This record gives sequence, C-alpha cells and structure tokens, in this order.
Amino acid sequence: MFRSAIVRPPSANFAEGLTRESLGPPDVALALAQHARYCDALERCGLNLIRLPADARHPDACFVEDTAVLLPRCSVITRPGADRRRGEIDAIRESLAQQGHALQAIVEPGTVDGGDICEAGEHVFIGISARTDAGGAAQLARRLQAAGHTTSEVDIRDTPGILHLKSGLSWLGDGRLLLIAALADHPAFAAWERVRIESDEAYAANAVRVNDHLLVAAGYPRTAARLRELGHALIELDMSEFRKMDGGLSCLSLRY
Ligand code: GLY
Repeated sequence: MFRSAIVRPPSANFAEGLTRESLGPPDVALALAQHARYCDALERCGLNLIRLPADARHPDACFVEDTAVLLPRCSVITRPGADRRRGEIDAIRESLAQQGHALQAIVEPGTVDGGDICEAGEHVFIGISARTDAGGAAQLARRLQAAGHTTSEVDIRDTPGILHLKSGLSWLGDGRLLLIAALADHPAFAAWERVRIESDEAYAANAVRVNDHLLVAAGYPRTAARLRELGHALIELDMSEFRKMDGGLSCLSLRY
C-alpha cells in the first residue's frame, strides 16, 4: 500500500524540457490543469501528497519519479542520465530526508533514471536505456539485492519509441504486467502474466497501480476495456501535454 507521494507541478517554461516527441509545444495552462487532476486522483487513492513548488531552473522537474527509487526497504536517490536534470535531485533528497527516509545514492559515473525502474512486488526490473547505464544499473541492483529484492535487467536501447522502461511496461499487481508488443516476448517477462498492448495504443503501457486503483492515460479505449475485463478499477487521466514532453503517468509522482 502506498500512503504518500511527492509531486511537483510543471513550471512556466515546461516547454524547454527534454523531449524526443514531435507533438508540438505543451500548453502550460492545460498541463497544470491535467497535473491538478492527477493530484486529485492520487488523493482519491488515499495518498497524502507532498507538494514541491515548480522549479523553472529544471523544466523537466515535474517528472519527479526519475530522481529516486523508493521501495519499503530501500530508498535510493538516482543520478539522472541527462546532465541538465541532475540538479533535480537536490529538492527531492531534502524532502525525502525530512520524511525520514534513510537514503542511499547512485554515484558517479553510473546513471539511473527512476523511469527505468519497474517494481513488481519483490522483483525489480531495471531498464538499460539512453538514461540508465550498465554501471548505474549494477549499483542499483546491488542495493536492491542487499534489501532482499531480486532484479533483472531489460536492455531497451534498441526498442523503438520508448524513452524509459516504464514507457513500455507497468506492473499491475498479482504477477501481471502491462506491456508493449516490442517487450512482450522478452525473456525477463516469460514467467509473468502479460497484457499486451497494440502499437496504436502504446502510450497506454505507462499505467500506475495505486492501492486499489489503476491510473491509466485517457484515450486508449481497447486497453481500458481489457483492463476493466481483468477487474481493474480504472481512473483515466488526460495526459496530452505531458506526452508532448516524453512523460507519462508514473513520472509525475514518487510514491511510497
Ligand atoms: N522530458 C522527460 C525527459 O526527457 O527526461
């Protein structure tokens, strides 16, 4: 069960963040409204929100998930793979320390983005990507294993269309994964129940299980119908402006 989450709204210069998408600049007012509805949804799921102020020095700072990996027995501040995002960790480290987390850290030269880390109960999938390198992944795996987790690596560097592992993979609970077709046959997932998403709904692969609900991006009706059939209680959220900036539902909060 999650009890809390750190969130941070997009700043006025959100459009200056990193993106590989060609969907045009985000409408910041709409992004703020979408962020507010996202926060409402987390509260509806029972979470207490720690709301950090927007940070115009770091236009990607609303994507707080990339700055830490938080599991009940292991809290690790990351070292984001994009140089210009490294400063985002300072406010998160301070906030987590205030909340009483005993923090470990990924150290130079390794890099890890939290978006590449998919907790699936006691097992953790670690994506190797353009942001998370082999050295960072090995550091994180050691820390997680010392805390009693099992880990496996999934190299997504040749998987088209996804920035982070969790752009294409979500844990739904109870041994079940939601994932894009390009990842569905990866050996790391062979023992898991897999809900495969068709390519025209690939963005819907980034979903977030929060206690009894599953947050999903709005606008992907076949994925939503399949997840409802499987018994998930969905909260659908419009993510259009965050998608333009290569972000998804999971990136917008650090849950613990
Ligand atoms: N805009 C999210 C990222 O590229 O890290």
